[in-house]
Amino acid sequence: MAPHDLSSFDLTDKPHINLGLDGIVAFSTKKSFIDGQKGELIYAGYNIDTLAEHATFEEVCFLLWNDRLPTQAELESLQQALLAERTLPKAVIEFIQSCDKDAEPMGVLRSAVSMLSEHDGHDIADTQAATISMTAKMPAMIAAFDRVRRGLEIISPLSNGSTAENFLYMLNGEAPGEAAIKTMDLCLILHAEHGMNASTFVARSIASTMSDIYSAVTGAIGSLKGPLHGGANTAVMNMLLEMQAKGEGLDPVEEVKGKLARKEKIMGFGHRVYKTLDPRAVHLQKMSKQLSEETGHMKLYEWSVAMLETMKSEKNIDANVDFFSATVYYSIGIQPDLYTCIFAMSRVSGWTAHFMEQSDNNRLIRPRALYIADKNLDWTPIEQR
Ligand code: CMC
Repeated sequence: MAPHDLSSFDLTDKPHINLGLDGIVAFSTKKSFIDGQKGELIYAGYNIDTLAEHATFEEVCFLLWNDRLPTQAELESLQQALLAERTLPKAVIEFIQSCDKDAEPMGVLRSAVSMLSEHDGHDIADTQAATISMTAKMPAMIAAFDRVRRGLEIISPLSNGSTAENFLYMLNGEAPGEAAIKTMDLCLILHAEHGMNASTFVARSIASTMSDIYSAVTGAIGSLKGPLHGGANTAVMNMLLEMQAKGEGLDPVEEVKGKLARKEKIMGFGHRVYKTLDPRAVHLQKMSKQLSEETGHMKLYEWSVAMLETMKSEKNIDANVDFFSATVYYSIGIQPDLYTCIFAMSRVSGWTAHFMEQSDNNRLIRPRALYIADKNLDWTPIEQR
């Protein structure tokens, strides 16, 4: 029997099951709106295209946390607060140094964020302080782990500059160029918030038990890590690199058709809500094209476009945010297994915004499951089983 075939069970109260909570509206929110038919994404009133053109990541953080744009003074005050929280506690640095070189970066990030609840110097119940601290420290954690595993010294954070600039500086140990900073900042803006995705649902569920925000972000990182969610960007890059290893003559159209024939999923495609091109992918494709031209990685970009067209014609499935973000990060020299960490260091803004929104109007999240096994079986002694 298929795992979800309920035909032979007595459904006493005949519930309707929405697998994957598909279509269930469980909350109201001011944080974001998605029109999956039109391909529209709005953060707290502002279209993602408007934010991509005008905002900085820090402005987006303020917007998500306060449901309005900051004044100049408020933005400067937020930037100062983030700057003041960039340095990692000694215990977190020691933990990162103790990690195996082959450890999954998302696992390291999850554990390091979890450690902050004990080593941050803030009261665990001070949600605002913890929010600033995690947003400021996650880039430093990712950069520190990448340097340690490459046998390099951990770099101290910049005492000025944006989140994007500081991350690239701490990763590479040299001042990033304007174009790289702008690319990273735009990626952070595009990944900051996205409705009731799996990791945000985890964060809200943890908030609903009146647990702390460090736990919520730790849980959300664990959820984001999976390849059906944020882990897809790393999976996309690995797929493209595997294709490249087969030789320049590879036909990406046949590659996609072959995968579909074998019922394999193509990472970076499909979405529960979007039934058209993800509006974030539009910006990322533009960036990917431009960077690929600049860095001479045109082959991977051209293959990506051929894959996009083939998925559309074969399955009518569009690319999501993860597809072109992979080649964007690749073009600026970032290791593929860090891509999901970059997603996390942006999405922490959305997770924490939802934690606060849930806490302000809380009801314990507690759905139900339909029991489909036997009841009241006789006990069998262990030697008779
Ligand atoms: N490649 C091939 N076929 C696909 C894909 C794909 N990437 N995505 C969906 N389909 C097919 C799927 O096989 C199914 O076909 P059929 O009806 O013939 O069985 C149909 O489309 C519906 O797919 P589904 O898996 O039932 O859709 P879902 O809403 O449950 O899942 C998804 C959404 C994102 C998990 C899925 O599209 C997927 O696995 N995509 C690949 C992983 C990925 O890129 N994830 C990132 C999601 S967006 C960013 C984020 O959330 O982090």
